[in-house]
Amino acid sequence: MNTYDLSPSNLGYFVFSASDLDAWKDFSLNIVGMGLSEQQSDEQLSLRIDNQAQRFIFEKSSHDDLAAVGWQFDTEQELEQLVEHIKGENVEITLADAALCENRCVEKIYTCLDPNGVRHELYFGPAIAPLHQPFSSPVLVGNFIAGALGAGHFVAVTQDLPATKNFYLNVLCLRLSDYIRAELGPGGPVLDTTFLHTKTGRHHSAAMAAMPFPKKLHHFMVQSDNMNDVGMAYERCKKAGLPIVMELGHHPNDQMFSFYVQTPGGFVLEFGWGGIVIDEKDWNVRSYSQLSDWGHQQPAN
Ligand SMILES: [Fe+2]
Repeated sequence: MNTYDLSPSNLGYFVFSASDLDAWKDFSLNIVGMGLSEQQSDEQLSLRIDNQAQRFIFEKSSHDDLAAVGWQFDTEQELEQLVEHIKGENVEITLADAALCENRCVEKIYTCLDPNGVRHELYFGPAIAPLHQPFSSPVLVGNFIAGALGAGHFVAVTQDLPATKNFYLNVLCLRLSDYIRAELGPGGPVLDTTFLHTKTGRHHSAAMAAMPFPKKLHHFMVQSDNMNDVGMAYERCKKAGLPIVMELGHHPNDQMFSFYVQTPGGFVLEFGWGGIVIDEKDWNVRSYSQLSDWGHQQPAN
């Protein structure tokens, strides 16, 4: 089978290490507009953004970083096909126990580590919330775009870009979307970012760049289907005195209108609208020379 066909369906969930669950709860519910999942404990905050039972998991920890990402497969057969491929790439991959499956609210998981120490949880069979508990947020006017497109995207920080690209492209079998190679400020170093998508085509589920940043991810992104939610989330951040990392702006590759705010974990959230879905039939990989068409400036302060 062509490795192109082995791609996961989507990026189904995120797992973060978090030192302050209360701060994340306030930020996620009242600023971002996520909702609580049924499963909660003193050690774990679990959140929804659609009808899937759990999309964002925060595990109590002494530090703050990305712990794991969950890659969803539509069927057990598709999951097993990629696992066989990964074994052939000489990457250690392990069948998870029932406790992890229960914690993640899925049927079956295999785990492996990438070159940066992020755990990848390959799974199928996510739990769906009961019909009488539809997702809704009192602070959103629209809905998060999730479902078959997955929870969102993230940008991984690496100090070994070739090994990381090889892992995501040739081990996980994600698909190349495009590149942005842009100067960080006039005359500054060039940031070389590679963007990758999954089978269902959200422009990118993962991107990666070598950059001076002390976490395993630079940011994760959630997307609303209503442009007003971007502006209203921006206003909630300003009102709460949260540090804006990049002002409102527009990316040339995924067409996302968004802003970036610092999270309680020290890494960044991108809140966006308008990101495109890739149609494989007429997709051409391109290389862009700027991160943003307009905006996304770092605030002067
Ligand atoms: Fe992003």
